[in-house]
Amino acid sequence: MEKFYLTTPIYYVNGQPSIGHAYTNITADIIARYQRMIGNEVFFMTGTDENSQKNVEAAEKAGRADDIQGYLDEMSALWQQSFDTLGLTHDRFIRTTEADHKKAVEKFWQAVDAKGDIYKGEYQGLYCTGCEAFVTESELVEGKCQIHKRAPESIKEENYFFKLSNYRQALLDHIEKNPDFIMPKSRRNEVVSYIDKFMTDISITRQSMKWGIPAPGDANQRIYVWFDALINYLTGVGYGTDDQRFEKWWPANLHLVGKDIIKFHCALWPAMLMSAGLPLPKQVLAHGFFTIDGEKMSKSLGNVIDPLPIVQDYGNDALRFFLMREIRLGEDGDFSLSRLAERYDGELANELGNLVHRVLSMTEKYFEGEIPERAEQTAKAEAMKNYQANMDEFRLPDALEAVWKIVREANQFIELKKPWVLAKNEDLHELSDTMYLSLETLRVLAWLINPFMPETAVKILTKLGLDPGTEFAQDYFSGLTWGKLAPGGKIDKGEALFPRREE
Ligand code: MSP
Repeated sequence: MEKFYLTTPIYYVNGQPSIGHAYTNITADIIARYQRMIGNEVFFMTGTDENSQKNVEAAEKAGRADDIQGYLDEMSALWQQSFDTLGLTHDRFIRTTEADHKKAVEKFWQAVDAKGDIYKGEYQGLYCTGCEAFVTESELVEGKCQIHKRAPESIKEENYFFKLSNYRQALLDHIEKNPDFIMPKSRRNEVVSYIDKFMTDISITRQSMKWGIPAPGDANQRIYVWFDALINYLTGVGYGTDDQRFEKWWPANLHLVGKDIIKFHCALWPAMLMSAGLPLPKQVLAHGFFTIDGEKMSKSLGNVIDPLPIVQDYGNDALRFFLMREIRLGEDGDFSLSRLAERYDGELANELGNLVHRVLSMTEKYFEGEIPERAEQTAKAEAMKNYQANMDEFRLPDALEAVWKIVREANQFIELKKPWVLAKNEDLHELSDTMYLSLETLRVLAWLINPFMPETAVKILTKLGLDPGTEFAQDYFSGLTWGKLAPGGKIDKGEALFPRREE
């Protein structure tokens, strides 16, 4: 058994979760469920990033200027509820206003300071609150940040700086020696060129800010939100509060992030860790963005899609399935409700739903609902190997495609064998083999589908007359051994897996 520590970004609470945020966390949830399924000990963390100027502005706008903490509490609770409704299985929902996080940030700051990497200087430049980042003239178009369509503030103040540029060569070396550190590979060049050409020391405090964690030893300065936020990955596993836990879990196996924040995770963060003398995370995986009709989803455009009504209409499993089917990990894609309806009707109701339905109906009809004698088969070994290799390397859509190949082949197998003809001709041996192979395929499918569509996996097992708790308590590799489905068991057809939708 190995440990697997997995994180998502922590989110600003100036708005509600969108389908984009849900995509990140559902992807992470699939990885976490798979890792648990193959027997690893998992710690999966998500949460909210609360010491941000953006949040303060949102609180002010909501008339809560004198109750920022109350506003943050409510908003963070809303994120937690959404993630619960989505059926996510994170082990901790961290908030950067929590006491243990402040402790971790202080300890971290002191370690970096002791290394001689913090110095006081004058910062003069531009800051975009939308990005929560310092920006340069060259990044603006007509004086405005291109992402947030607004002019950055001009700032001139005494700040503490972090000697980021000290780590240029060490970062480049690390990326070169660890080809899997930044995934997908297509993102690596972007990071390397930033480190090589543009990375400079950065200001890590703000004097003018009223919200945020005070800089140790200088209460007039608040720590820059990204410097504080990244440290959440350490806080969550006990840094500064529980050394033993920290030893056990750090470094993270995987930071899953969106492509928008890759520089923070692949340049600033590893440099911070090097400075504090801590090991680096094994991998940063950056996924692409969902757009709406080709446009970025944003509050100002008014095109933000809320995942919860979709879940009400289609269920969690259908949303998870759709998100994994629709874009390849790392690439962008457009989110469309009509595509969701198409995939639901086509792949879920017609292909998987119908497969389960017909196999169970025929078992009822020809064997009075009893699982027939075992039959041997070997053909799925290849698809299963393929599934596993893709899951191990986080190519979730490819793994799901391997599963769908099995679904389609199982449907074709029935078309080919024509159990109804076998029954008519009283070819009972062939009929029994055909039905056993089909039923056992459903059991194997329940395992493979489980990380992607956990509710569906449970339903399939129940229909096969198995107890999902007992079935999934088995070791994955023995659970997947062919022939585990015991002859003589009674199936329970029940309701359709994916009911036809009303228009
Ligand atoms: N608070 C920082 C992250 C700190 S991590 C130490 C932040 N927060 S955020 O609220 O802006 O969330 C950004 C993340 O949300 C992206 O990296 C991505 O994971 C997710 N997404 C937001 N919109 C998205 C899409 N439209 N599509 C896919 N993912 C999206 O940045």
